[in-house]
Amino acid sequence: MNFYPLTPEEKEQRVVWSSVRATLEAFRFKYKRSGKKSRSNWTLFERILWFFQLFLKLIGAYSKGLSQAKNILVQDVKVPLKNLPAAFSGFRILHLSDLHIDAIEGLEDIIIQKIKPLQYDLCVITGDFRRDTVGGFQQILPAMKKLVAALHPEYGTLAVLGNHDTFQMVKELEPFGIRFLVNETVFIHKENHNLRVTGVDDTYYYYTDMALHVLEKPSDDFSIALSHTSELCDVAAENGYGLYLCGHTHGGQICLPGGIPIISHQKGRKEQIRGLWYQNGMTGYTSPGAGVSGVPLRFNCPPEITVLELSDAGKSSSSPV
Ligand SMILES: [Fe+2]
Repeated sequence: MNFYPLTPEEKEQRVVWSSVRATLEAFRFKYKRSGKKSRSNWTLFERILWFFQLFLKLIGAYSKGLSQAKNILVQDVKVPLKNLPAAFSGFRILHLSDLHIDAIEGLEDIIIQKIKPLQYDLCVITGDFRRDTVGGFQQILPAMKKLVAALHPEYGTLAVLGNHDTFQMVKELEPFGIRFLVNETVFIHKENHNLRVTGVDDTYYYYTDMALHVLEKPSDDFSIALSHTSELCDVAAENGYGLYLCGHTHGGQICLPGGIPIISHQKGRKEQIRGLWYQNGMTGYTSPGAGVSGVPLRFNCPPEITVLELSDAGKSSSSPV
């Protein structure tokens, strides 16, 4: 079933967006909201990772890290939300993030087994489908096709791109049954009520004002923002969004005992590294991700599949009656 087909206006906007994204990808800089751009030193980073993996193999910890990376946790999270339409109380969102599906062989099968018994109305994927940030992506297609075929949400599967993803994936993955939101909005209708879902393109490497503008569009409907990172949470909160779902941090992926991250790629508030957080009346959730990047290992930071159950927490004093 084709959920949320593109409007003629969205088709036109995608032509503009894909040419801008293609240009940004070609230059291989990180384009930031602050206007800064910088180049990643991947060669140095990959060398460090190589030595790190070698070290772990020598001390016998590699297999333990791999086994932790495959041991995906299913996390049920209750999310009380002000101004949620009553029709959406009990609505369940399956939140997947940072699949990096080609980083661990057979990861899609592990995820499918975990998802099988779950009940959910909508699935959202907040970016990072492949392991690397550059190069081809054909290797992820069979696994993604299999995974999406195993999803059965009544209201479809929505996704945004991450900083590891290329614009070219959108055309290849959408026919599997994913609707990408590249600075776009869709509405979910239930019992005469609407839920607005807006997704923005990755802003960690590929920031453009298009991401800002789509969040700034006014609406009276309860609104959910999907983004790879938490970087636009202030904009979403200022514009009345009630829920913000993101990933990117992997929760740290390699953590000290107690889940203390060594590196998290989280520039802003540290409480946004994983789990629930709040921003000016908006609730946010950062998924620690189901997959891994850099090294196929996790320590003290389990991969996660999240089921968010929304509930009505009443009206806020500033909301229209
Ligand atoms: Fe990631």
